[in-house]
Amino acid sequence: MRVKIGLMGLGTVGTGVFKIVNSRGRYIKESTGFYPEIKKVLVKDLHKKRKVDAAGLLTNDPREILEDEEIKVVIEAIGGISPAYEYVKKALLSGKHVITANKELIAKYGEELGSIAAEKGVYLRCEASVGGAIPILHQIDRLKITDEMDFIGGIVNGTTNYILTKMGEGKSYKEALNEAQELGYAEANPDYDVKGFDATFKLGILVKRVFGVSVPVEIIPRKGIEEIKEEDVERAKEWGYEFKLFAWAKKFKNYISAGVEPTLIPENSLLSKVKGVNNAIILRGSSFGEYVFIGRGAGELPTGDAIVADLIDILINYKLGSKSEVTGVNFREESFTDTFY
Ligand code: NDP
Ligand code: HSE
Repeated sequence: MRVKIGLMGLGTVGTGVFKIVNSRGRYIKESTGFYPEIKKVLVKDLHKKRKVDAAGLLTNDPREILEDEEIKVVIEAIGGISPAYEYVKKALLSGKHVITANKELIAKYGEELGSIAAEKGVYLRCEASVGGAIPILHQIDRLKITDEMDFIGGIVNGTTNYILTKMGEGKSYKEALNEAQELGYAEANPDYDVKGFDATFKLGILVKRVFGVSVPVEIIPRKGIEEIKEEDVERAKEWGYEFKLFAWAKKFKNYISAGVEPTLIPENSLLSKVKGVNNAIILRGSSFGEYVFIGRGAGELPTGDAIVADLIDILINYKLGSKSEVTGVNFREESFTDTFY
């Protein structure tokens, strides 16, 4: 059986999804029973040169996806709030499963969209929104069944880690940022990366998943890397340290403390070995102790892989006939004091 997919966006992430779905269709069919077929691809500019051959599939009219009853799964890889929010909401209300890589959307509207998904009995999945290829949200959902976690932290932005790594190798901040943009790691507005907004969105999603608390991301204390100079990186190196943009949240008895800030890490520590676009996410739990998940935090294929992992999960659940009680966003609301410092 074929499952028809509407892909929204054919930039870095959409291209990765397109490549993986089209090259791994046979294997997806073998493991899920469904052959994935991308029926339409929504873009802004129909005349732009593409890295993949999507001729005949491109449209700039969202209704060709949202109003097509044959399309059961929508993959949103546009980014930002508008029009992504309107499209995702409409897709869910029309009974379509949605997979998104959009951390800003999930951090700000995950609660509302998750409730719509639950009401409609469809899935809203967002593995690619945090940690790129690292299957961190899947792991958290599994670990929180057996554990109480009290700490989550690490390097969650690939662009800033790439810039800091390259500055450590002698490149200028500007040169390194340009490279991260050319490689497709940076957000459309790179201020989101370097000023730490992207990391706060991801931290908000992680806090919700791990501790069950919704946090307005605007109140997470945030400092980016844009004031770090080449000579600061050099000086840190002389002292045996490296800068990393660190995002962290710790649960105390009745409050959570959290923040995003550049942090000096000893050069012989595990985190300092996490170079370039890689991310590292540390989880601490009552039974498992401590885990560190390391992997590609951004880029075409790593992000595409995380999205296709969500697709496979949805298709397997489909096959099993299970409805969406766990939307991935609204799982387990905690009742402890929702105070945030
Ligand atoms: P890009 O800017 O590379 O691609 C965005 C795509 O969306 C383009 O194809 C663009 O069309 C299309 N688009 C933009 N606006 C509209 C619109 N109004 N209507 C229809 N189509 C539109 O972004 P990325 O692929 O880098 O990122 C997409 C999302 O994935 C973001 O939420 C980002 O945060 C997230 N993400 C990105 C990662 C990365 O490594 N880049 C990793 C993990 C998540 P056109 O091509 O015609 O301009
Ligand atoms: N701009 C983001 C980053 C993309 O560099 O981490 C991946 O979420």
